[in-house]
Amino acid sequence: MIIKNPMSITLLFTLVVGVCSSVYANEDKRQFVAMPKMMQQHQLANMRDHLMAINEILFNMGKDDLDKAANIAENRLGMSSLSTHGASHMGKVMPKEMSAIGTNMHKAASRFALVAEEGDALPAYKALQEVTATCVACHAGYKTQGAAPKENKSHDMALKEKKSHTITPEKDKVDQRINLGFTTSEKVEFLAEMRQMLSSLQAIIIGIGSENAEKIMKAARYSGNRMARETPQSIKDKTPLSFKKLGGPTHMMFEEIAIRADDDAESLLELTGTLMKNCVACHAMFKVSD
Ligand code: HEC
Ligand code: HEC
Repeated sequence: MIIKNPMSITLLFTLVVGVCSSVYANEDKRQFVAMPKMMQQHQLANMRDHLMAINEILFNMGKDDLDKAANIAENRLGMSSLSTHGASHMGKVMPKEMSAIGTNMHKAASRFALVAEEGDALPAYKALQEVTATCVACHAGYKTQGAAPKENKSHDMALKEKKSHTITPEKDKVDQRINLGFTTSEKVEFLAEMRQMLSSLQAIIIGIGSENAEKIMKAARYSGNRMARETPQSIKDKTPLSFKKLGGPTHMMFEEIAIRADDDAESLLELTGTLMKNCVACHAMFKVSD
């Protein structure tokens, strides 16, 4: 494979490695971004759909249906998705840099759609990896929930929150997922593991696109049994069986991807797709914050 832009590959690598090392930090130094509760829940729901969209894109690329993949990318992540995501709303409460990463994600998804429509898988993987790089970048820098000191909330923000409650009282919008009841430090540890999983996924996509088995193996192992072993006991004690039934196999599937790292792209994509069903299923069921 010809690497057209070695600079951007190096940058990506730096990003991925940067996120990997944060797994062992027990402090969440990301910038906290306050938003009204309703908006925050809306954003998290969008996020879950982002992950689902990536899964569906990979699934269709595995079936060689690049047109379908292009469609999903444009409508669910691309510039066409901006109005459904209430982006103009969100843009106002986000710091400029964060908002810029969000815009880059939409642009990268639309660019991916254009490349995928051309019908060539390899350039399409490269374009897709530009999309997932924005997921990794934003998650490394920002959080909207978790350890938010109360005084961080400005008067203005509190007012907005009050308003948003009166404007959108729909009950079905409330986040009814099961709260795992983690302490602050457990949350920090757990969410860092989650971001590691996202980076692993990102690097696996790069690996599939560049036929680099070594990279796939290394990336997958970060989220395999090693992570399962290193998860603090107190977290393991708190999670219910239904959680463990999704979490355990997820680590195992990363190991399976590592073992089969030099399989063909189609089989690796299928495996990655199966793995991602677990991400989606667990996110639909559990949360760590109120
Ligand atoms: C502009 C910033 C930004 C971008 C881009 C972004 N995210 Fe997020 N995402 C966040 C924030 C902030 C959270 C909440 C994290 C926290 O507070 O710990 C989040 C949470 C999530 C969650 C957890 C949702 C839940 O169930 O609560 C998933 C899954 C997720 N993102 C996936 C993705 C994927 C996949 C992409 C790329 C296609 C992506 N995100 C792009 C900012 C971003
Ligand atoms: C066994 C359950 C489970 C599985 C499996 C799982 N997650 Fe999560 N994930 C969670 C929970 C719970 C949260 C916190 C959601 C919340 O509180 O809104 C989370 C949050 C996240 C976040 C947000 C992290 C942050 O704070 O920035 C990302 C990104 C994420 N998950 C990615 C993934 C990916 C990618 C996979 C699959 C490879 C995956 N998760 C599999 C339970 C799971």
